[in-house]
Formats: sequence, structure tokens, C-alpha cells
Amino acid sequence: MDNPSKIKEGDIEYSLGKFNGKCVYYDFPKILVYLNAKGKLLFGKRFKIYDQDKVILLKLCAYFIRDKENCKKYGIDIEKGILLSGPVGCGKTSMMKLLRHLVPTQRPYEMIPCRNVSFSYNHLGFKTVEQYGNAKFFCFDNLGVEPVGRFYGKDLNVMGEILLSRYELYMRTKHKIKTHATTNLNADELEDRYGNRVRSRMRELFNLIAFDKKAKDKRK
Ligand SMILES: Nc1ncnc2c1ncn2[C@@H]1O[C@H](COP(=O)(O)OP(=O)(O)OP(=O)(O)O)[C@@H](O)[C@H]1O
Ligand SMILES: [Mg+2]
Repeated sequence: MDNPSKIKEGDIEYSLGKFNGKCVYYDFPKILVYLNAKGKLLFGKRFKIYDQDKVILLKLCAYFIRDKENCKKYGIDIEKGILLSGPVGCGKTSMMKLLRHLVPTQRPYEMIPCRNVSFSYNHLGFKTVEQYGNAKFFCFDNLGVEPVGRFYGKDLNVMGEILLSRYELYMRTKHKIKTHATTNLNADELEDRYGNRVRSRMRELFNLIAFDKKAKDKRK
């Protein structure tokens, strides 16, 4: 039988904790060893786990491994998705790409830049809203900085419409559909961009996990 506490990368097997045949008792330091190695494989050898990012990682790991105790402690609702916010270059996109690998048996979400969603609308019109609004698991990357969509002279706040659709879906499917996103904007800026109807639904759709405003740009 498969042991879900172990993940193989090439010839190396990483242990994430102990498995008693029924459930995995995850060990956070072991998870960090794995994420550090997997991060290097995905993003290059400069990748490392920064001390100042460990609290964010602990929260995200608790969410993805469905650790009820820590989720409760951090006020995270397992039913909702994740909105990961933070300043430019702090590592949001990398983190969301990396964490998919922690739970290989869970349905993976597709990372999709919001700019691409807008551009898709410019070509295809409302079909785009249906495509991203219905079903599937997505992580909408860089929410709030995408251009307004324009199709045959009609302007549309495309991501706003998609979030409204996904909220309806989330309510209808009894919370089974998850939506994740990353953003540089804070709550007020998101409300300016999408209006209070979307903002209010975003609170239901997402757990907010935020990097420190002063988190440094890892591109520098
Ligand atoms: N833990 C890390 N160690 C080393 N480099 C990292 C780490 N995390 C991210 N990087 C690198 O820093 C750069 C920025 O990371 P990333 O794109 O994930 O940030 P971001 O927060 O999504 O930025 P933006 O706000 O511009 O979308 C990338 O080149 C990435 O490879
Ligand atoms: Mg990014």
C-alpha cells in the first residue's frame, strides 16, 4: 500500500512524518526539508526557505495537509480557498506553485495569470468567464492588476465576473469547489478594483494569508 507520508523525487525519498496505516502525522521540520528540496528542483538552486517566511508556510501547510488544530489556531477555514497577499516579489507565485506538490493525492489547482484571463476575454468574450467561472480548481495569479477586458467595444471587469461566478458555484456545490489567488493589493485596493459586492463574496471564498508589508523582494 502507498504510504502518503513519503514523497519520491528522482532517487531520493522524502519523509513528511509518520503514517499509521490510516492517517499521516506530519512533522513540520520534515515538510520544510522536502519543500526546500522541491523548491530547488522547480525554481533553481538559489531557492531556499527563508526564516521570515516560516510562519506563512506553517499556515499554508496546515491548510493543505488539513491540520485541523493548526487551522483553528490560525483562523483558517479548510472549506475556503487561499488568498495569498504580499508585496512585489516576496514569493507568492512560487509558494503557490510549490505547495501543490505537498499533497500529491489532492486535486491540483491550475495557476493562471489574471492578465491571461483578461486577454482571453478580449478574444473570446463571455466564454472566458464561463471557462474560468465554472468547475475546476484554479489559483488566479496576480489578482487586481490585470487590464479591464474589452470585447467588441464592451468593457468588462473580467476577474470580478469570474469571482462572482465562482462564489455562486462554491455555495451551490456546498463548498467543494476551491478558488485560490495571489495579489499585491490590500483589502481596500481590492474593493476599489472590484466593488463591494465582489469584495464581500471574496471574504467567503478565501482565507486571507498575508506576507508582511515589508517582506523583501526576492528578485533583488
Ligand atoms: N524562497 C525563495 N528563495 C529564493 N528565490 C525565491 C524564493 N521565492 C521566490 N524566489 C524568486 O524570487 C522571484 C519572485 O518570486 P515570485 O514570482 O514567486 O514572487 P511574487 O510574490 O509572486 O511576485 P509578484 O508580486 O511580482 O507576482 C522569482 O525569481 C523566484 O524564483
Ligand atoms: Mg507573482
